[in-house]
Amino acid sequence: LKVAVIGGGANTEYQVGLASAAAVSDSLIELGHEVIGLTIDQQGRWASAQGELLKGGLSYAIALMNGCDLVFPVVHGELGEDGTLAALLELLGKPYIGAPTAAGAIAMDKIATKAICRGLGIAVAEGELIGPAGLSRTYALPAVAKPVTGGSSHGVQLIRSRGELSRLLRRAREGRRRLMIEEYVSGREIDIAVLRKSDGSLLVGPALEITVQAGGIFGAVQKYDGSAVFMIPAALTSAQQRHLESTAGELYETLGCAGVARIDFFLREDQFVLNEINTMPGLTKQSQVPRMFAQCGLSHQELVAELLAAPTI
Ligand code: DAL
Ligand code: MG
Repeated sequence: LKVAVIGGGANTEYQVGLASAAAVSDSLIELGHEVIGLTIDQQGRWASAQGELLKGGLSYAIALMNGCDLVFPVVHGELGEDGTLAALLELLGKPYIGAPTAAGAIAMDKIATKAICRGLGIAVAEGELIGPAGLSRTYALPAVAKPVTGGSSHGVQLIRSRGELSRLLRRAREGRRRLMIEEYVSGREIDIAVLRKSDGSLLVGPALEITVQAGGIFGAVQKYDGSAVFMIPAALTSAQQRHLESTAGELYETLGCAGVARIDFFLREDQFVLNEINTMPGLTKQSQVPRMFAQCGLSHQELVAELLAAPTI
């Protein structure tokens, strides 16, 4: 097949978006497919995989994508994973890999995700959007502040004092980005991956546990500096494992996901608290999803082959 792979992204996850797209392209080539590499740079300009700007920009990128059998967008974060690329491909009627528009948009919005989880009875960290009127309740400190639609923990901040909290509220009022606050959940960090196979069934990988140095968080630095350790499979009881799998499957189906999603939880005592849903999770060979599936015998190449066999349209 001739596959257009889109990497990068006009957001803070640009670098990992490049690395994930490069890994997917390598596996596609190893599988014998032809790859047309496209990149969205941090300014939102369309370029080749080598970073050469495309004359004609998006219109030329569309022409290239139209000449392919399939499009595989591997863009994390806003203007990519948030449903925007899926919307473009749906409008073009081009078969593509990954979550459809609504699933991407909802999962990227941590406030919308929380509302859906509350409706399904899935535990979430107590938290809310910081609106013009401030907060509706008090939060114990430290609390966690985040952009509503960020990724890779960029912009996540621990709020340790009342002074920091008032600066945060001011920043939320004055800035354009929607910010939210959450209680700090201390618990084990457990991720699970869900993949739609071409027969429509779901394949759930073994759970992964992230351990960071004592007292640390799995933040923007630890995500990519190699200091975090992944344990696969996570040490869970069989009841916990079953509960995790069914919760992850329920979320995947409720949002209408496609392709692979990684669903991240905290395990607080015996309760799984949803952290977030990634509808285009990191796909480098060192990323959680490929490592989880590798543990159950699916290589990066086989994972890419599974994804390719189940396009969304
Ligand atoms: N948001 C990053 C890319 C991840 O989910 O792995
Ligand atoms: Mg994320």
